[in-house]
Amino acid sequence: MMAQRRCLEGLSMEKDTMPLTNHCSMAGIRPAMLDLPYPPMQVRCRNQEYAELLACDYCGSVSELSAITQYINNENRLCLENCSIARTLLGIAMAEMMHLQKLGELIQLLGGEVSFSAGQPGGKRQMWTPACLDLPQGTEKMLCANIEAEKAAIAQYKAHMQRIGDPCVNGVLRRIIRDEEYHIMLLQIMLQDMQVMQQNM
Ligand SMILES: [Fe+2]
Repeated sequence: MMAQRRCLEGLSMEKDTMPLTNHCSMAGIRPAMLDLPYPPMQVRCRNQEYAELLACDYCGSVSELSAITQYINNENRLCLENCSIARTLLGIAMAEMMHLQKLGELIQLLGGEVSFSAGQPGGKRQMWTPACLDLPQGTEKMLCANIEAEKAAIAQYKAHMQRIGDPCVNGVLRRIIRDEEYHIMLLQIMLQDMQVMQQNM
């Protein structure tokens, strides 16, 4: 009864106040990707081992799924106080979603299974979990965590390319790396801009 009264009081108060609005528009944002074509989505032949490696890139600890969720989390937490950074992070998240989609296509062509679990070094399969994410407080720390995640993704793609003998697959991974390098550049520019602003305050 008390709780109901508090709620009704709250509603009557809200009639006289403005709604809480997010004025940061996400209209017109495009995926933050280099304006270069992707190779055709094809593989030389079915290969379970390669599909398993791509499953790690798809939804392992360091993966496109981790990148998407980490960027969206950061964008949501920043959009009220820093719309410009939030918009750029959403564009990067959209690019990571395109990467996820392309990896999924390759996994299917290789005869693997698209799921949200990936094989671990010991052979055990593990479901993706938000424990994979690094979600610090503060814009600078978020940008730094994202730069580290991009670097880890590039290192993992390069390690997997060493083990994959299919030039069709490696061509797609090489093209994804170009986007990840572009993301690092965008993140570093935002970080430097923040540091310059702080020095001038
Ligand atoms: Fe990226």
